[in-house]
Amino acid sequence: MDNKPIIFNHPLIQHKLSFLRDKNTGSKEFRELCSEITMLMCYEATRDLPLEETEIETPMGPAHTKVIAGRKLAAIPILRAGLGMVDGILSLIPAAKVGHIGIYRNPETALPVEYYCKLPSDIQEREVIVLDPMLATGGSAVDAISLVKERGVTTIKFMCIIAAPEGLRALITAHPDVQIYCAALDSHLDSHKYIIPGLGDAGDRIFGTK
Ligand code: PRP
Ligand code: URA
Repeated sequence: MDNKPIIFNHPLIQHKLSFLRDKNTGSKEFRELCSEITMLMCYEATRDLPLEETEIETPMGPAHTKVIAGRKLAAIPILRAGLGMVDGILSLIPAAKVGHIGIYRNPETALPVEYYCKLPSDIQEREVIVLDPMLATGGSAVDAISLVKERGVTTIKFMCIIAAPEGLRALITAHPDVQIYCAALDSHLDSHKYIIPGLGDAGDRIFGTK
């Protein structure tokens, strides 16, 4: 299955993204914006959840309605910056389990280095959404999704806030079965493999570590 990336053009997302990119936006507001943008993207990313019929009583009498058909979900943020997207998912899907994959980019080579992986024990039964605000070269996302597949997961979505064309190509090539959602597709990577115009270092901006 080849999935075309879904790039959001919703006015609310574009509006919030402008403030997220602004270098004068501080960590508190940056975290709030990350959560809000993720929540809006999650609304779209859950469009295909299956429903089942139920019967309830309204104050006016019986009604045949629909509820989500118990599909099990897990959100997996790539540490650190992916943590900034977890709240946005859990606010809409409070029953989702959360796994963590730690990967950082070697500052010299920009290649991903894995340092942590803790996933729910029943992960292979779950639909997984891997979270990372930045898709630059794509190395971190490709490796994280490979790890999740090694654990037996078959349905995987990847959600980022800003993607570079280079990262998008790399991810689609490595994992054509993964549906990708991003709030914006930017111009290119600079010589240090940072996204232009981007928003700088997402982890540092979320956690105030610069
Ligand atoms: C950032 C970002 C992604 C990765 C993207 O993490 O959060 O995980 O870079 O780059 P790539 O697509 O080229 O792999 P970083 O290495 O800065 O780690 P951090 O989140 O711990 O700061
Ligand atoms: N990681 C970030 O946080 N920002 C970029 O632009 C590239 C990688």
